[in-house]
Amino acid sequence: MTLEEEHLRKEMVRYGALLYERGLAHGSAGNLSVRLGDGAILITPTNSSLGALSPERISKLSQDGSVLAGDLPSKESFFHIAVYEQRPAAKAIVHLHSTYSVALSCLCHQDKDNVLPPLTAYQVMRVGRLPLVPYFRPGDIRLADAVRRTASGHKAMLLANHGPVIAGASLAEAVHACEELEETAKVFFALGSRPVSLLRCEEVDELQAVFGS
Ligand code: 13P
Repeated sequence: MTLEEEHLRKEMVRYGALLYERGLAHGSAGNLSVRLGDGAILITPTNSSLGALSPERISKLSQDGSVLAGDLPSKESFFHIAVYEQRPAAKAIVHLHSTYSVALSCLCHQDKDNVLPPLTAYQVMRVGRLPLVPYFRPGDIRLADAVRRTASGHKAMLLANHGPVIAGASLAEAVHACEELEETAKVFFALGSRPVSLLRCEEVDELQAVFGS
C-alpha cells in the first residue's frame, strides 16, 4: 500500500468520526469516498457507521467500480463513480443524511436548478448552486444517471427525499462544504416565512469571481 493510500484511509476514519460526533451522520447513513492518484477509489463499506470505520476494512474499487480489496462497498458507489467521471478535479465525495439538508430535500421546490437561495457568502463560496436530483431509491442504478447529468455543472447537489452529495478537491473540502450546507439549511428553516434579504446577483457573481465557487 502506498503512503498516499495509508494516509487517505486514516483521513476517512478521522472525518467519518468527526461527522458522526457533530451529529451530521447517524446509524449507518452516509458514505465517503476518495480518489487515489492512480484513479482507484476508496469508499466506505455498505452499512458501516461513519463513526466507527476501520482503515483496513474500507473498500477499494477500480475506476470502473470492480472491487479490488476490503469489505463490500457502499451500495451508492456507482453515483460516486459517476461524479468522479464528470469532475476530473474531484478527489473526494461526501454523501450524508444530515437533518436540515434532508428536510430541504423533502420540500416542494419551484426552481429545481437551485433549491437554496443565496443567504450567506460562505454558502456561495463553499456550496454554490444546489440543484435537486429526482428521487430514486438508495442503490437504484438510475440514481447514478441522474447524478451524472447534474455533476458536470455542480460540485454539490441534493438528492430528493434523501440528502446531499458534495465533491471536493480534498476530503476536508467536501466535508467543510457539507457542514456549510447543513448550517445554511438550518438558517433557511430558522428564517421561515419572514421576509429575507438575499444576496444580490452581483454579490454572488463577485464571490464566484474572487473565490471561484
Ligand atoms: P451504504 O451503507 O450502502 O453506503 O448506504 C448508506 C446511505 O447513505 C444510503 O443513502
